[in-house]
Amino acid sequence: MNKKRILTGDRPTGKLHLGHYVGSLKNRVKLQDEYDCYFIIADLHTLTTAPEKTGELKENIRELVLDYLSIGIDPAKSTVYVQSQIPEVAELAVIFSNLATVPRLQRVPTLKDVMRDADIKIPSLGLLGYPVLQAADILMVKADLVPVGRDQASHIEVTREIAREFNRLYPLVLTPGVSRAESLRTPGVDMGSGVFPIPEALIPEDIGTLPGTDGRVKMSKSAGNVINLSDDSQAIKKKVMGMYTDPSRVHGDEPGNTEQNPVFIYLEAFVPEIRNSKFEIRKEELKKRYKTGKVKDVEVKEFLFGVLEEFLQPLRARRQKFENQPEVIENILKEGTERARAEAQRTLADVRMVMKIDY
Ligand code: TRP
Repeated sequence: MNKKRILTGDRPTGKLHLGHYVGSLKNRVKLQDEYDCYFIIADLHTLTTAPEKTGELKENIRELVLDYLSIGIDPAKSTVYVQSQIPEVAELAVIFSNLATVPRLQRVPTLKDVMRDADIKIPSLGLLGYPVLQAADILMVKADLVPVGRDQASHIEVTREIAREFNRLYPLVLTPGVSRAESLRTPGVDMGSGVFPIPEALIPEDIGTLPGTDGRVKMSKSAGNVINLSDDSQAIKKKVMGMYTDPSRVHGDEPGNTEQNPVFIYLEAFVPEIRNSKFEIRKEELKKRYKTGKVKDVEVKEFLFGVLEEFLQPLRARRQKFENQPEVIENILKEGTERARAEAQRTLADVRMVMKIDY
């Protein structure tokens, strides 16, 4: 049976952190067995906000692959590749740029957010077209599902609109009696199904976003409130002990709030990851004591430190295995790129055929 296909990925802008893990990475590892997974390292997308920073990309890509391997993404099961190594992506983006209007792209909510965060007054054509390039990533491999964080939902919506519009303008023409797969290069009658499947976003519902160590709504590198997957014990300890808790509680003998308290939010997110009932019991006990004013922040933080160390231990072991073997990482990307490129070329052949630009 053919597995359904997944595509998702990240811009190589630096190390991945616990917020990325909760928001999307965790999901991917689980999906690897059931689906044919593609993970794109979207280096071209970084140009949309920081075209001057291409010098950092090589190192960031290496870090990203290490982060992937450390959480358990398995290159034997999944395809990991670099966007800019697949020229067909750019070709498809040029075609798609005619299927999305400027006002439609101006209404994509992430545009405003990104401009604010990166202090951009006037968007470049590339930034406005960010979701169009993303549509090319997704449709290039004809993905069925796109697991992403909530913030990306509007981009998947643009992708769906582009896929529908492409299918409408350039219907796939099938010859009666010839299968869809065979006919992708054979002219005949229109049977109504297009070249592209309409992909769906797969958005985690549970925890949502993980707050920063400073209590701000989310972790972000620019805010300096992140715990990276690659942080060592010393860094973790320092960050956890300095974490924001319940601001209205001054002493350990005052009843505290655990719900909006980042230390407890992290515990709720990571204790289940280590699958050990002792930790689960201890978490519940600390919660009760916190609410009744019977524990100091420092004791809860020490527990959280232990939890994160336990969670990160297997990640560190996997990372270490690959860290000193640059050729292994190169090979993973080389093989991934070959597989992705073959898909891309097949898709482009279909696209050119239905568009009648296959001269
Ligand atoms: N825009 C995504 C992000 O910033 C990264 C990305 C690029 C992506 N291409 C993609 C995600 C295709 C899913 C599918 O997180």
